[in-house]
Amino acid sequence: MNTVLNVKDLCKTYIVNKRQNNVLKNVNFTVNKGEMIAIMGPSGSGKSTLLYSVSGMDAPTSGEVIFKGSDISKLSENVLSNIRLDEMGFIFQQMYMLKNLTVLDNIILPACQSKKIKESRKETVERGQKLMRKLGIIETAENDITEISGGQLQRACICRSMINDPEIIFADEPTGSLNRTASDEVMDELAKLNAEGTTIMLVTHDVKVAARCGRVMYIVDGNIQGEYNLGECNSPSQIRERERALNNRLMEMGW
Ligand SMILES: Nc1ncnc2c1ncn2[C@@H]1O[C@H](COP(=O)(O)OP(=O)(O)O)[C@@H](O)[C@H]1O
Ligand SMILES: [Mg+2]
Repeated sequence: MNTVLNVKDLCKTYIVNKRQNNVLKNVNFTVNKGEMIAIMGPSGSGKSTLLYSVSGMDAPTSGEVIFKGSDISKLSENVLSNIRLDEMGFIFQQMYMLKNLTVLDNIILPACQSKKIKESRKETVERGQKLMRKLGIIETAENDITEISGGQLQRACICRSMINDPEIIFADEPTGSLNRTASDEVMDELAKLNAEGTTIMLVTHDVKVAARCGRVMYIVDGNIQGEYNLGECNSPSQIRERERALNNRLMEMGW
């Protein structure tokens, strides 16, 4: 199988007021191409730190993060920022959109910054509109980012994360601020992207969200406490049963 991410003995230590906080302790795992994988675990267990460390947003204290064959923890900031821009998509709960730009302009911003994308602005705009149509938010294209709902904003974030056609999308609690319906819709979209081949790694507290992923990693206190392989989710009718099975397994792991 094609490995996208290979994480070896990853450690992350923060030092705050001269006190050492070992947040990640020798974490090892791999992510294969086309996987949709969820990270679960108690608050403060290191889920966000893990996502930041493996996506090159934050430097690990030690260990290796091999992304498509190269150790990103050893790359220069310049090379790394191009990899983040061209090959990774990011969806965060505190959605970092720029307030003085329209929704569409926010979505196409990474394409305008990328050296990989060789197209006219018109073509970029058309791709942005196409993504917005796909996610059902085209009517908000010219709105200010403050004029749309939470669900629309989250879908706009998905569009933006997709604009440079990334190898992998990292999402930190992508449905954390949404109600059930909006959350289900956002997950429908992420599942579609995944079915089309995009690898997705997301953090969630929501068993229903995790049950749609092929694999769940459970983190406690900076260690992978356990893992559960749910396999591919082929139909929405399976979600209930998957949720029940995942709940049982999480309970065993101390959820
Ligand atoms: N930038 C930072 N500086 C110092 N400590 C941090 C920083 N980010 C996270 N931490 C600490 O790391 C631990 C794990 O945080 P985090 O990864 O955000 O947990 P989770 O996402 O699982 O809730 C917490 O104790 C938190 O206080
Ligand atoms: Mg977090």
